[in-house]
Amino acid sequence: MAEIIVQDKLFHLRNARMSYIFRLTGDGLPAHIYWGARLESLMSPLDRLWFESGEENFCHNTMELEKLPQEYPTYGHGDLRRGALELTAADGSTAVDLVYRGHAVTAEKPALPGLPFSFDREGASRTLSIDYADELLGLKVTLLYTVFDDCDIIARSAKVTNKSGKAVFLDRVMSASVDLYDMDWEMITLSGDWARERAIDRRPLVPGFQGVDSARGASSAQNNPFMALVRPGTDEFKGEAMGFALMYSGNHTEMAEVGLKQMARVQIGLNDTHFRWMLEPGESFTTPEALLAWSDQGLNGMSAQYHRLVREHIIRGKYAHAQRPFLLNNWEATTFNFDEEKVLKIAARGKEAGLEMFVLDDGWFGHRDDDHSSLGDWQVNLKKLPHGMDGLADRVHAMGLKFGLWFEPEMVSPDSDLYRAHPDWCLHQPGRTRTESRWQLTLDMSRADVCEYVENAVASILESARIDYVKWDMNRDMAPVGSAMLPPERQAETAHRYILGLYSVLEHLTARFPDILFESCASGGNRFDLGMMYYMPQAWCSDNTDAGSRVMIEYGTSLVFPQSTMGAHVSHAPNWQTGRMSPLRTRVNVAMWGTFGYEMDLAELDDNQFAETQEDIAYVKAHRDLLLYGDSIRLKSPYAGPTAAWMVVSPDRSEAIVTAVRMTAQPNMLRERLCLKGLDPEKIYRVEELDAELTGQELMRFGLPLAFESGDYRSLRFTLISHK
Ligand code: DGJ
Repeated sequence: MAEIIVQDKLFHLRNARMSYIFRLTGDGLPAHIYWGARLESLMSPLDRLWFESGEENFCHNTMELEKLPQEYPTYGHGDLRRGALELTAADGSTAVDLVYRGHAVTAEKPALPGLPFSFDREGASRTLSIDYADELLGLKVTLLYTVFDDCDIIARSAKVTNKSGKAVFLDRVMSASVDLYDMDWEMITLSGDWARERAIDRRPLVPGFQGVDSARGASSAQNNPFMALVRPGTDEFKGEAMGFALMYSGNHTEMAEVGLKQMARVQIGLNDTHFRWMLEPGESFTTPEALLAWSDQGLNGMSAQYHRLVREHIIRGKYAHAQRPFLLNNWEATTFNFDEEKVLKIAARGKEAGLEMFVLDDGWFGHRDDDHSSLGDWQVNLKKLPHGMDGLADRVHAMGLKFGLWFEPEMVSPDSDLYRAHPDWCLHQPGRTRTESRWQLTLDMSRADVCEYVENAVASILESARIDYVKWDMNRDMAPVGSAMLPPERQAETAHRYILGLYSVLEHLTARFPDILFESCASGGNRFDLGMMYYMPQAWCSDNTDAGSRVMIEYGTSLVFPQSTMGAHVSHAPNWQTGRMSPLRTRVNVAMWGTFGYEMDLAELDDNQFAETQEDIAYVKAHRDLLLYGDSIRLKSPYAGPTAAWMVVSPDRSEAIVTAVRMTAQPNMLRERLCLKGLDPEKIYRVEELDAELTGQELMRFGLPLAFESGDYRSLRFTLISHK
């Protein structure tokens, strides 16, 4: 049960497994006390024994605050580390002294205006809303904390309200700040680039600043809005791990500052680079939500918290717990070179193989025969599709397939009617070059008129044909960022206002078309974040569909995101991005760890391969509930050795599918044993591929033999079913 106990200025948030505690100092400052395994006691006096400095010193008028672990520090007194809130008042002053003013505990998780937020069933979680004030500035700061019952996560956000008669400029407003008592932690981040998204990176904390961020306009493939701190020695199964993930799709920062006394200050929130928000009298500013996960069961333990959070508290709508259609996308088969006849042939072969939906990718609108034109002109190209979108959609449906369509609504090509009519509708700064990327500019989604255009343009196509799925793409970073609609003093608000505009369009469209499955995409996985998942239950992981690369990408992605969010497709070999050959079965086994589909013309397969594909699709279909919604466990990391392995177990532990990929062949070695996890030791499992029956205990202690064929990128899968 989630509960929040408030006693003698001490706030104890806990569920059955975890506690998070802070208290107010004599001066009304929130001091962080504890975050870890559940404490039965309230612990109120204990932290005082720990400090060298007397309680009377923890107040705004001494230099001792740097020794105090805090909850939401500010600049301007004895703490000279980075503040969670930094601002410039009308008179140019920058100090902020927050003092406790009151609090409330509710059983209802409040909405965050204009932002995605985690939600809960009424009564299942508890939320603490705690108010602080700076009387001199006339500022109110409300911190929200939610503790969930079913996952070991604290959701945090902050709201700043200007109650004075003058505007203030917010220079930095973090979603959460936590001061840890020591620096004996290692930082894990998910970094990369296009086609190499979410690679796991791990290094020890050192004195000074460290962390990741994005100033690219998107949450980015460079650095996912996530960071974990783990104790040295923590691995997938044991050790303490704390996760910090931001539910946001734009510029962000996740950082640790090891300061005096070697305490580690952790902060997560909007990136303050190129950010400044003018808060007028009476206005409020709400930060995105930060989701702080805790586990003492290693990284898999932390991931399990996030997976549950995403499935139960973030993804909404018809597809939240439903099966997703196995899709066939034409992008890698045709790029822009298609017409109706060609795509119908591809779709028909997909249907024959057992697939369930055909998705038409880029190139169906304006005169877009390559990536140089037409973004923004969302009218069907009748030369390619003579029967219109409705004609194509009807024909695809007549085959017994669903029909999906690609859009890139946030963009405009300089060669487009839209740009010629509205050259000021893109992000730009006066007199500066409009930097193009992939021959396109970014529409200024901070503007209400642009958002209205985008929403109507997409809606009119969605209303014109029977469309079951939308792939919402976004293919460039933003630069230079500026808006023709905002006054000079608000230019640094553009990037955040863009994301708010995007969220409002997504909110409207997903509400207006509740039966459509939306998949987000951004040059592959450039915007793979919890914010997008609030609107779209799945996201394209990467434009790199090579099985070897995908093992790494999916492995990293799974640190935070469950397999039901990871768009993963089988594609052609040799692979487009890497030139690598990998067996068809391996490509299937790797794509099976996500929302399954194909990204190729199946007509290129010979008869044997096609028959194998039919078998594979039938296999994935037969196990689709387990694969999509089972508990995913990482067993062997491709970052650590030649073999990668993971498994998915049903919640009742009666079924599991295990996948192992040997990345590079190892000659003359003993057969590896793969010890499984998460099974019921008492149960007897039939391992279909081995035609053997083994107990859960044997499978977890002795393991499965990995008898790979020789060659690189060979894989094995095992299907475990227990009837006893
Ligand atoms: C980038 C996406 O990641 C690809 O899957 C494809 O949709 C292209 N854009 C189309 O331009």
